[in-house]
Amino acid sequence: AMDSGVAKNPITNWERYHHELQARIGINQKLMNRVMNQAKQNPKTVIFAEADHYKILKAAQIVLDQGIATPILLGNKVRIKELMEEYKLDLQGCRIVDPVEEDAKCEKYAHMFYEKRKRKGVSLFDARRLMRYRNYFGCMMVETGEADALISGLTRDYSKTILPALQVIGVEEGVNKVAGMYIILSKKEPFFFADTTVNLNPTAEEMVDIIGLTARYVRFFDTDPRVAVLSYSNFGSSTGPIPAKTSEATRLAKLKYPDLLIDGEMQANTALNPDLLREHYPFSELANDGANTLIFPTLEAGNIAYKLLQEMGGAEAIGPVLMGMRKPVHILQLGSSVREIVNMVAISVVDAQTSNGKL
Ligand code: ACO
Repeated sequence: AMDSGVAKNPITNWERYHHELQARIGINQKLMNRVMNQAKQNPKTVIFAEADHYKILKAAQIVLDQGIATPILLGNKVRIKELMEEYKLDLQGCRIVDPVEEDAKCEKYAHMFYEKRKRKGVSLFDARRLMRYRNYFGCMMVETGEADALISGLTRDYSKTILPALQVIGVEEGVNKVAGMYIILSKKEPFFFADTTVNLNPTAEEMVDIIGLTARYVRFFDTDPRVAVLSYSNFGSSTGPIPAKTSEATRLAKLKYPDLLIDGEMQANTALNPDLLREHYPFSELANDGANTLIFPTLEAGNIAYKLLQEMGGAEAIGPVLMGMRKPVHILQLGSSVREIVNMVAISVVDAQTSNGKL
């Protein structure tokens, strides 16, 4: 049947393909354009904790020029100015702050941090030392309202960068665990993956929190979440701790969020293939359209999945969007590109506009 179609009009298939491709690119562009436009309407002050890095300065230049954010650059002033000179960047209007030179502020922050953490083994001496580090100092600037959001993590391990944020800023009210989401701009439509960055092996109850947070963030991106809770098993076809946990998480999430379109546990191809769902699991809530939001059973599954897509699948990945913080902090993936950094700055600004991290 396909051959005869091609014979009648050789360009039909190509045209159809081309149109589909344009539509998909359109959907993807729309998602980030909307974020960029919203950011520009009310740009916020964003701290770049690693401003002694060319990519960060370049991203700062772009967001400044485009009116997405007002950067505050943290780091050694001489080094930052050298880099600006070397790469012909014009960031003259930006504040540069070196925590090492900020004695009075460090002392104030140290006392605040000590008050927060004195029953968690932190002495005033420790607090004074920590405030000289840019991630602590930067988080304190966000905590005290001197800045609206923080971007860090380009050059350091994620786990080392998130810890100051958890200790200084912490989770928003009603949230137990923060989690990381990636937006995968695939050839088909945007997909949302979580948790890709924080919780090593969440319990079924913790997964319910992650599902709730993720659904909220997906809605923010003008998308109705269709959630699949993933495992290596389809609706009880295999046994083991992961199918048991993910099936329980699905059951609890259905109770907690009765309006959410969610099903599980299922394999990734089942989640993404409505034909397969309709043929083999017609009872599934996702049988109409398949899933656009994938909840992973463990950090290794989520982290490995998105990185494979990013490297092999030709998909643009936006993230990690850190969900559930009391104020916006976003921690980049090690070695992010300038474009990825700019995307994350725009998301941070919108996050800050949407009031204290409750995107
Ligand atoms: N949500 C909210 N708060 C948390 C979370 C969470 N998911 N995890 C830990 N915390 C809090 C703790 O409650 C604790 O608070 P408290 O000190 O006020 O009591 C504080 O953070 C520190 O907790 P610890 O137990 O000392 O730290 P932990 O060993 O749990 O480490 C961490 C937390 C760093 C997030 C850890 O879970 C981790 O390393 N996760 C993996 C990070 C990672 O490597 N990701 C993969 C790479 S990311 C990428 O590819 C972009």
